[in-house]
Amino acid sequence: MSIGIDKINFYVPKYYVDMAKLAEARQVDPNKFLIGIGQTQMAVSPVSQDIVSMGANAAKDIITEDDKKHIGMVIVATESAIDNAKAAAVQIHNLLDIQPFARCFEMKEACYAATPAIQLAKDYLEKRPNEKVLVIASDTARYGIQSGGEPTQGAGAVAMVISHNPSILELNDDAVAYTEDVYDFWRPTGHKYPLVAGALSKDAYIKSFQESWGEYARREGKSLSDFESLCFHVPFTKMGKKALDSIINDADETTQERLTAGYEDAVYYNRYVGNIYTGSLYLSLISLLENRDLKAGQTIGLFSYGSGSVGEFFSATLVDGFENHLDKEGHKALLNHREEVSVETYEAYFNRFDELEFDHVAEKSEDDKDIFYLESIEEDIRQYHRPE
Ligand code: COA
Repeated sequence: MSIGIDKINFYVPKYYVDMAKLAEARQVDPNKFLIGIGQTQMAVSPVSQDIVSMGANAAKDIITEDDKKHIGMVIVATESAIDNAKAAAVQIHNLLDIQPFARCFEMKEACYAATPAIQLAKDYLEKRPNEKVLVIASDTARYGIQSGGEPTQGAGAVAMVISHNPSILELNDDAVAYTEDVYDFWRPTGHKYPLVAGALSKDAYIKSFQESWGEYARREGKSLSDFESLCFHVPFTKMGKKALDSIINDADETTQERLTAGYEDAVYYNRYVGNIYTGSLYLSLISLLENRDLKAGQTIGLFSYGSGSVGEFFSATLVDGFENHLDKEGHKALLNHREEVSVETYEAYFNRFDELEFDHVAEKSEDDKDIFYLESIEEDIRQYHRPE
């Protein structure tokens, strides 16, 4: 049975800060951010873009009227919840006008949750040939101004339609997950920002990758040469590279060169967006699909990681004509048309986001009429603008 990613799209807010300028402001050598961490720009979120509006914006350009009739489940993966009870999926379901007889809920396990959402969708669809599932990964990665994690912030969402006979990637029946209780990054309820053990989080990520990949290779009888490319969770572009480098010597020279070059194409978009937590792996997947010369039938390996921690290695195979279902021009335009803000302005946006203080004059632009955004909060109920 062929089930997989039929459509995929991302949305990022319209502002970014230049990492060299952020480094200067923090009196750090810019090469630490540009090379050591591997980030060039970092998406900055206005208060008017929360996980609901970003998720709806990522989905709106790929969902057709026919999809809306057949989506039986909407899952939002996030670690930036705006409510401890009500799921963002319910609001997104409403904003997108999806048929009412649908299951809508939120999933959480740090940056990992979109992956079990996809696997759940796959299992769900096996018994439902006429349905589709909308999976959305939406987050605002926030560590705090002048915190250790500050250069690894970002914001954005990825939306995916999972269906039978997918147009882009078929999910294979081979996922291996690895769980280990570790306090590398966590956010106890009531905390605005996560608690992070930076060095431990890098080690825990690499260990989780080695364990899940090692078990996957053993169970499936596969080696690195079986993959055209590998995609990783990308909290910052250097992270996945460290994981890849930790096993690359097991491969022959041709495979090493191919996987290393593929990695660079796979993190191209992430380098200009920063960390989007749950969506990072899938932003990287879009980057790979749109920036690398790939062919139908090739297999991509994916490593998902959520601190805490759960890692998962799985694979997907490109289907005929997949290149006709991507939007490279649209994505380049989205990234290139963003507005650079100064470090001072980024800090002001950051603080307004925390306080939910709207400044529609400073933050509004003509383009906003075409997107979803958070317009106001009245009696703790969020009101969203719908595209005209
Ligand atoms: N030129 C080039 N590279 C430089 C440099 C310079 N001038 N100065 C430092 N670097 C390199 C360091 O050698 C290091 O590379 P390495 O990891 O290969 O050794 C890298 O830049 C980062 O330096 P480090 O001292 O580790 O930075 P840090 O203590 O500020 O922490 C993070 C970096 C990523 C741990 C921190 O930003 C963080 O906690 N982020 C959030 C958690 C996270 O994303 N974890 C990942 C797993 S989910």
